[in-house]
Amino acid sequence: MIAVIGGSGLTQLANLEITRRKIVRTPFGEPSGPLTYGHLGEQEVVFLARHGYGHTLAPHEINYRANLWAIHAEAVTRVISVCTVGGIAASLGAGTIALPDQIIDYTWGRPSTYFEGAQQPVTHIDFTHPYDEETRQMALAAARDAGVALVDGGTYATMQGPRLETKAEIDRLERDGATMVGMTGMPEAALARELGLKYAALAVVVNPAAGRGASARTVSLDDISRVMEESMGGVRLIVARMVERHAGP
Ligand code: HPA
Repeated sequence: MIAVIGGSGLTQLANLEITRRKIVRTPFGEPSGPLTYGHLGEQEVVFLARHGYGHTLAPHEINYRANLWAIHAEAVTRVISVCTVGGIAASLGAGTIALPDQIIDYTWGRPSTYFEGAQQPVTHIDFTHPYDEETRQMALAAARDAGVALVDGGTYATMQGPRLETKAEIDRLERDGATMVGMTGMPEAALARELGLKYAALAVVVNPAAGRGASARTVSLDDISRVMEESMGGVRLIVARMVERHAGP
């Protein structure tokens, strides 16, 4: 089964025929909310709102371990993460939907592994390519089918938040090679890898990053809300086609 983790702007899948909600408890505490089961076309999917259904959890308050654990416990094999980002590269203007292929993690203090504690042998996962290539290719094909533009590749800098960045911070991220910046990419992707889940992210650019383009002086939060609304239609179309393509377990 395929799971969709929705971020800001996607606290529900409009085209999802909901069949049930399930509260899942995990050894790591409570997920952001109940898992929502439903159908998109023929396929069953499970949906989880990353920030909670009332959008109350800040990026650093999200229990990423519980979220991924709950999803994994439900016989999910593939995860589509939907998130919003600021565009650092000039080519990633507001409204662009991107499919990152790399991550730089600047977060701190977030529980970020399942492999800790006295009972656990130390385990290192390979994370050279943090996103699952098969799932990325599915997303590209789905976007082509749906006629929605999807930018292939990019380096997602994950910042702690919840505040937005200073211009100097964005300059530094750019020097580091980041092309987009968000707050929820990690540790989600690493936890998915630890659990063996096939995971890729659709990153919606909702603003130029601080100090860039229209955000030269300030980042307009009104513009962010507007672009988010406008762009989620395309995301929903891509997700629906990906779910169609994910036949089997
Ligand atoms: N910075 C960090 N996270 C974000 C941004 C941003 O500019 N836009 C949306 N999420």
